[in-house]
Amino acid sequence: MKKILVIGSLNLDMVVNVDHTPATGETILSNNMEMIPGGKGANQACAAGYLGADITMLGSVGNDMYADILLGSLQKAGADTSKILKRSDATTGIALITVNSDGDNCIVVISGANATLSCNDIDNNIDLLKEADIIIFQLEIPIETVCYGAKKAKTLGKTVILDPAPVPKEFPEELYRYVDIIKPNETELRMLTGIDQIESRLPEASRQLRNQGVKNILVTLGEKGVYLDSEEDGICRIPAIPVDAIDTTAAGDSFTAALAVMLSEGKCLREAAIFANYVSAIVVTRKGAQSSIPTLDEVQQYIRQIEAEKAS
Ligand code: RIB
Repeated sequence: MKKILVIGSLNLDMVVNVDHTPATGETILSNNMEMIPGGKGANQACAAGYLGADITMLGSVGNDMYADILLGSLQKAGADTSKILKRSDATTGIALITVNSDGDNCIVVISGANATLSCNDIDNNIDLLKEADIIIFQLEIPIETVCYGAKKAKTLGKTVILDPAPVPKEFPEELYRYVDIIKPNETELRMLTGIDQIESRLPEASRQLRNQGVKNILVTLGEKGVYLDSEEDGICRIPAIPVDAIDTTAAGDSFTAALAVMLSEGKCLREAAIFANYVSAIVVTRKGAQSSIPTLDEVQQYIRQIEAEKAS
């Protein structure tokens, strides 16, 4: 089985359900808060684990109780956490999340130990990169580390997947050259390209990224499905699976992970994206980040159910 490596963030999510997302200056009330394992990198590693991949994560946490919760959640999913660094001088990352009654979220991340993952950590763990076939990055760790790691990965001939979330103020254009597959959502694509009314200008936006060196672009469009511009399959759209979303947290992370898992099994990008679309459809019907991630059995059963419904 091919190996997947996630290099990225781990956060403990403090999730508050709200009727509506508060406007600037508005105070609203809620009557519950849950602590749920999250972090874009850890969510990806967790999803890859539940989908049956050989998955290792490189990231960093504090030396605190939150770290134990996060490592435990990844281990439960079957991910190798032995290379996750424990910092004695930083706290574990925390995300403050509101989820409104439409299932949409707002997230503030307090980076903590995530901000300490350095280029040296990449060098010290270069064997992990050498052993991996597919390496996934997101942008909740320092952008220099992502750039450095992606460059190393590319030099080693690995498949590099970038989930460009959150988009930093200064996105280094050099990074595009090391990326085989980029997976922004609409907002991220608009921020990366500066193109407004992105929905009607997807070919222009993806061409812009292709010209900057990215080989394949997948844009997740929520209820409008997925837009794919790939070297192999050209441009195509994958329709969304209609669901009643209750919480979209980790939908994008699980999509990226599912994509990587399918690619690791030899599927083409289009087939991989179709599978990933099913995985995200399940995730948005469940609460929380890692608490919402399905197992491979659950996904397969769901696909059979949807196909049977279509056929009847
Ligand atoms: O993508 C969802 C994740 O973003 C949450 O789990 C939160 O930790 C933030 O990193």
